[in-house]
Amino acid sequence: MKKLTFGALMILTVTATASGAMAQDAAAGKSSFNKCLACHAIGEGAKNKVGPELNGLDGRHSGTAPDYNYSDANKNSGITWNEAQFKEYIKDPKAKIPGTKMAFAGIKNETEINNLWTYVSQFDKDGKIKQ
Ligand code: HEC
Repeated sequence: MKKLTFGALMILTVTATASGAMAQDAAAGKSSFNKCLACHAIGEGAKNKVGPELNGLDGRHSGTAPDYNYSDANKNSGITWNEAQFKEYIKDPKAKIPGTKMAFAGIKNETEINNLWTYVSQFDKDGKIKQ
């Protein structure tokens, strides 16, 4: 019985630590997103700005935010945004999509990119945090 309780406690602790780490990454990603805020909105009620709103980005096809006037380069890139595509893009947007009108040099730091993805990918298409 003792062993069982200990096992259960261990599982609880591990789960709590894992979600705690996720929350920390998302918080770090949120502050990194300050670099994007001048041009992008995300979350409930997000509107297009200089750049398109980024809700529901995970699984979204490039160039499909409603009512946003994309460059042909972005529209025709054929990208479906996911973790790998996003990480490659954000390192050097102009290398990934030559001719994009996103005027952003990119982020080189891997940890920052990871945190940014954790933050961005948690929003569903309505800007709600996925459960
Ligand atoms: C100076 C303004 C500006 C900044 C800063 C900026 N972006 Fe952009 N972003 C744009 C524009 C403009 C586009 C549309 C590109 C096009 O149509 O060629 C875009 C497009 C995108 C796309 C493609 C969206 C789609 O629907 O295909 C993603 C993803 C993206 N930006 C993420 C980011 C992230 C994350 C940051 C911050 C690290 C960031 N951007 C910073 C202006 C900006």
